[in-house]
Amino acid sequence: MISTTIYNTDIKNIDISILTEAAHDLSNEKTVIFPTETVYGLGANALSDNAALKIYRAKNRPPDNPLIIHLPDFSDVEKYAFINNRYTDKIQKLIPGPFTFLFKKRKVISNIISGNLDTVAIRIPVHPVANELLKLCDFPVAAPSANLSGKPSPTRVKHVIEDMNGRVDTIIACDDIEFGIESTIMDLSGDIPVMLRPGPVSAEQLEEIFGKIIVPEYIHGKEQADRILAPGMKYRHYAPETPVILITDKSEKNIDYIKNKYTDSVFIIFNEYRELFKGLNYIPVCDEKNIYFYASSIYDLLRENDNKYSNIIIMGVKENGMGLAVMNRLRKASSLEV
Ligand code: TXA
Ligand code: MG
Repeated sequence: MISTTIYNTDIKNIDISILTEAAHDLSNEKTVIFPTETVYGLGANALSDNAALKIYRAKNRPPDNPLIIHLPDFSDVEKYAFINNRYTDKIQKLIPGPFTFLFKKRKVISNIISGNLDTVAIRIPVHPVANELLKLCDFPVAAPSANLSGKPSPTRVKHVIEDMNGRVDTIIACDDIEFGIESTIMDLSGDIPVMLRPGPVSAEQLEEIFGKIIVPEYIHGKEQADRILAPGMKYRHYAPETPVILITDKSEKNIDYIKNKYTDSVFIIFNEYRELFKGLNYIPVCDEKNIYFYASSIYDLLRENDNKYSNIIIMGVKENGMGLAVMNRLRKASSLEV
């Protein structure tokens, strides 16, 4: 057990003395959890293997899963990566923000950060607490989402504490988190940009900026869905302990079938479907068109409803815009689609 110090700060009135303290901790190879506009990150000095290893230990993270390094702006990127100049202006349109880009790494980035790959993932967050903290560090900060490996990413300090109290040195609490879903990741190390993870920056936006991009089939979660259907195999991620069932067919007929088949469940639904769930345990999250709000609520809802019912049954969305990221996460969290 590590003794964990928790600080609170307000997004509009940031206490710089807390960030100075936290930056000092990071420079002393300690672990610091901080808010970003996507999810909380579990940070450590990316130039120290000793510090970076503490991240893997705190999360129980498999050692071959690489970490994103965080910087306050673009100016130092070239110290850590070989920038493809073709993309510099295009990246500027998306940073600071919920966007992560990959280039070939320089030697200073160790294999512990890159999971033995020859690339490095870089993110420049816009959240003022994250950005100010990074400005106070003279090194990049490696930070995965601040959850135990396999669990939903935390968007509230309550959930950070659940997973990480006693496992990290410092937690900076600030529940003002805009997106609630992890950054979009693009591999810019090759000839054509490849989406590695969908997120708040949509495929449509990326196509507008980069032109042709590759969105591999696995982004739609289809491969995983096939494997989940194989007997005895359940690949789960971003997942609570209670089985999650994803509703992809929202017709009245199918909803009737689901209601009768899965009793003792909680139904996470859009406002428009309320009538159909009368008398059952349901949580109306928002109107179906409020996809950003829905995205930002998912991880909280999965955590808050864990270990309370036999199933968590949640409504899926169309896979355009932010919907692609929502469906990607819901497919990974769920063990069944109905
Ligand atoms: O929004 C976010 O990106 C949050 C905040 C804290 O910045 N971070 C985050 O980190 O989601 P993490 O570690 O939970 O997810 C990063 C993903 C992992 O799936 C990892 O495998 C992938 O990025 N990744 C990192 N470096 C990579 C690399 N060099 N090549 C391929 N994938 C990489
Ligand atoms: Mg994660």
